[in-house]
Amino acid sequence: MPFPIHRGRRLRSSEAIRSLVRETRLDPAQFILPLFVCPGEGVRREISSMPGQFQMSIDSLVRECEEVRGLGIGGVILFGLPDAKDESASGAYDPAGIVQRAVAAAKSAVPQLLVITDVCNCEYTSHGHCGKVVDGDVDNDATLEWLAASAVSHARAGADIVAPSDMMDGRVGAIRKALDAEGFAKTPILAYAAKFASVFYGPFREAADSTPQFGDRKSYQMDPANGREAMREIAQDIEEGADMVMVKPALPYLDLIREARERFDVPLGAYQVSGEFAMIMAAARNGWIDEERAMVETLTSIRRAGADFILTYFAKPAARKLG
Ligand code: PBG
Repeated sequence: MPFPIHRGRRLRSSEAIRSLVRETRLDPAQFILPLFVCPGEGVRREISSMPGQFQMSIDSLVRECEEVRGLGIGGVILFGLPDAKDESASGAYDPAGIVQRAVAAAKSAVPQLLVITDVCNCEYTSHGHCGKVVDGDVDNDATLEWLAASAVSHARAGADIVAPSDMMDGRVGAIRKALDAEGFAKTPILAYAAKFASVFYGPFREAADSTPQFGDRKSYQMDPANGREAMREIAQDIEEGADMVMVKPALPYLDLIREARERFDVPLGAYQVSGEFAMIMAAARNGWIDEERAMVETLTSIRRAGADFILTYFAKPAARKLG
């Protein structure tokens, strides 16, 4: 319809009209807040590159979970900082490990809160890689055993959902098989299906103390240039039994969120990662960008691209703003 019959500005003239015709809305129930749990008591240590995010001991984490629940946020995903790291990531699948104890405490204090666990080894290995290192390389099939054992231990501790983030081949199938064999057929798997070897995980590695001590993660995480391969990874994870899939990071990969939404019918998540959060916070602290507007605009973009839910460090401020 040509101008002047059609004037797009008519529907932009007031907040009331804009709100009426808004296509994408945010709801706190669509957010999942990542939390970092560490040993000790009364610990609430701010992560320097992630203002407003903390390493928390279990007692502090439980209080945080109560607050998160009160804000109507969809859930939390837990990452653990163990007492000690070793070659075999034993803290990852220790039934009395840091995440296992944190899950049990959180679920008993706030039973209605959805608690997801990240299933990976990089926080637990002395070398910081996501699996068993053999001859300088991460051994895929040996690592599957650690992942399956971790997932089962998380489910046994009470995790509502397990989320493998390691990018080993075949891990979703291995985890599904182990969960079913141990009586956890009802525990869903959220696969970090298309996870890229991204520079934007930098602040997280400070938060989780998981920087690889040699090399990088490019032999298991995906090449940022590969969109078709991302679709293959997602298809394969669904075939192996993933109930939900994820694209990670979010903002630099909006095209893949859109494509995944169009191709696959399972629930789709996106992870607005630590570096995406840190960039906004850093610019805001310099007075170069408005933090709240950047938060709302990026979250809206990720939803508009097609994500059903978003893992985001902005979950609390976004929920407060919407509430
Ligand atoms: C564990 C894991 C990482 C993130 C989530 N799970 C780090 C990595 O792969 O190096 C990154 C999350 C973030 O940057 O916020 N493998």
